[in-house]
Amino acid sequence: MKIIHTIKQMRIWHEEERLKGKRIAFVPTMGYLHEGHLSLVQVAKQDNDSVVMSIFVNPLQFGPSEDYGAYPRDIKRDTQLAEEAGVAALFLPEVLEMYPYYPQLTTIEVQEVSEVLCGASRPGHFTGVTTIVAKLFNIVRPDTAYFGQKDYQQVRVIKQMVQDLNMPLEIISVPIKREKDGLAMSSRNTYLSEEERKEAICLSEALCICRDNHDKGEKNAENLIRYMVQRINKEPSAVIDYIEICDAETLKPLSYVQRQAVVALAVKIGRTRLIDNIIIGGRA
Ligand code: PAJ
Repeated sequence: MKIIHTIKQMRIWHEEERLKGKRIAFVPTMGYLHEGHLSLVQVAKQDNDSVVMSIFVNPLQFGPSEDYGAYPRDIKRDTQLAEEAGVAALFLPEVLEMYPYYPQLTTIEVQEVSEVLCGASRPGHFTGVTTIVAKLFNIVRPDTAYFGQKDYQQVRVIKQMVQDLNMPLEIISVPIKREKDGLAMSSRNTYLSEEERKEAICLSEALCICRDNHDKGEKNAENLIRYMVQRINKEPSAVIDYIEICDAETLKPLSYVQRQAVVALAVKIGRTRLIDNIIIGGRA
């Protein structure tokens, strides 16, 4: 596996691969890798010759009171996991390499789909995401990039950016990887104490309750949400940030589930903010 620290080296590697006629896949991450990240690599390997993974904790997508400084980092372990997973090139830029001037003057903002859900509770977050992802796309220049459905809104926003700006690549979304008890894998799960870890299953359980009630015939979003709130509020450390049922495409809130919808939630367990989602009312 080639380890690359600079944009210049990354461009040279890209040219060499292109000359060999390789199809290049890209998996952007912020590291502290888990099976969710590695599942993106597995899917990416199926349809491509070479997989590039980036690890970059992007300061631009963290709010001033968020966990940028504390975000878990373990480059040694990540390098080993990436190599074992079959990553061809690991891009590990420093902050100064990506942002010689910070904050940079140009940003990318996607309207509407980035203003709801996490966009409403984390102002500026998606501008940070779309800006870094666009920069990484320009540096790595992949044929295809892979994102997890764990961050449903993130994939939706990135697909919109790629479409609106005619970026020459395809975006593929990959299903959520969960722990055995249902908790969606996340680098932030490492913040949870033993007790909080037990309480954290309330997110996926609430989503399952919603899906079951929906499948039994309940289509009223307010009622579906009420049962989820009841489940989550049983946990002493859980504080709901949002629970919403939205059109899977527009992310606009629905009163009744008549077509494919995403049930999305963000819950703080102690100091750790976790997100999860499920698709109902259509194909998963
Ligand atoms: P990060 O949280 O490290 O996630 C990197 C990728 O892994 C994202 O596409 C995310 O959706 C996916 N992922 C995380 N947990 C997953 C799980 N349990 N199952 C499946 N996929 C999962 O998302 C980011 O980083 C950043 O915002 C980034 C896109 C890298 C831009 O900085």
